[in-house]
Amino acid sequence: MIRSNKTKKSVLKALLENPGEIVSGSDLCRIADVSRQSVWKAVDSLRVEGFEIEAVPHKGYRLFCSGAADLSPTWLELTLENTSWGKTVLFWKSLASTQEPAKELARQGAPEGVLVVAGEQTSARGRLGRKWKSPQSGSICFSVIVRPNLLPGRIQLLSFAAAIAVHETLKKNFGISFELKWPNDILYRGAKVCGILTETASEPGKVHYAVTGIGINANIDSRTISMMDVGGPSTSLLTILGHPVHRGDVIASVVRIMEREVRSLETASGSKKCIDEYIKRCSTLGREVIIRHEEKALRGKAIGISDSGEIILLISGKERVLAAADITHLRTD
Ligand code: BTN
Repeated sequence: MIRSNKTKKSVLKALLENPGEIVSGSDLCRIADVSRQSVWKAVDSLRVEGFEIEAVPHKGYRLFCSGAADLSPTWLELTLENTSWGKTVLFWKSLASTQEPAKELARQGAPEGVLVVAGEQTSARGRLGRKWKSPQSGSICFSVIVRPNLLPGRIQLLSFAAAIAVHETLKKNFGISFELKWPNDILYRGAKVCGILTETASEPGKVHYAVTGIGINANIDSRTISMMDVGGPSTSLLTILGHPVHRGDVIASVVRIMEREVRSLETASGSKKCIDEYIKRCSTLGREVIIRHEEKALRGKAIGISDSGEIILLISGKERVLAAADITHLRTD
């Protein structure tokens, strides 16, 4: 596991402010308020995070821009300095699933906003027992601990907050509008780009903690996507945009917006606003769909979303409200 510390953050900040230029060892010692040896140790550790830092004898250190560090926990903590989430970012090159360490930390009392990020997941999970694929060097996969002031029956709304955050980030950063498919898939022209999973520990009337995991097919080439076999059409940001994205940038933006949305959900007016935002972006509503629920497949029309995030369907002339189901959009053309 790789994590950041105060010295690494100070050194990285100084180097990032002077890209391609030499920053003297003595300046770094002064800025970080540590010894030369501690600066050297921090630089070495930043290299492990993927930064290309040259040590220029008798002069200092120089940072070269490098995409290899785009999941750096130190960069993420620095970037999220002014938000309350993301104060602690734990990074693993490879994990079975980011949900597991995040849930263990939450059980041990870790605060809201701790992020667990992985370079790849070998056994990632999706909703309804499905698998999620996060291949190496291209995936965005992370989990965040949330301690929301929400009743257990409304916890589905956390995934809505995450979906809005991903949707807003992709629109803001890349100018592309994606669609939300109830409950928490993000699609581009019908193909999945992102999946969200929220798991909770609660008792009647109280949520102890929730862990929301977000997986985005980011810099994954179309050949790898086509071999992923995730039970439906998938695509990636690389395929859509034609260029790789800085994954840390996407994570930082999603985390900031999600924090804002979660706080909003905790008030009656904010919660209504959040659901309205979700509805605006959700392409399931108004559509004919196939619903797989309790081993039955039913055809119906999605007509609304309840205050708790359930879907309201019209099936054979009768309204049904479902909290969990697998939905397939039927073609509209
Ligand atoms: C789904 O589409 O059914 C949800 C997929 C959720 C995947 C994310 S990736 C980060 C976190 N770790 C997991 O094992 N799952 C979630």
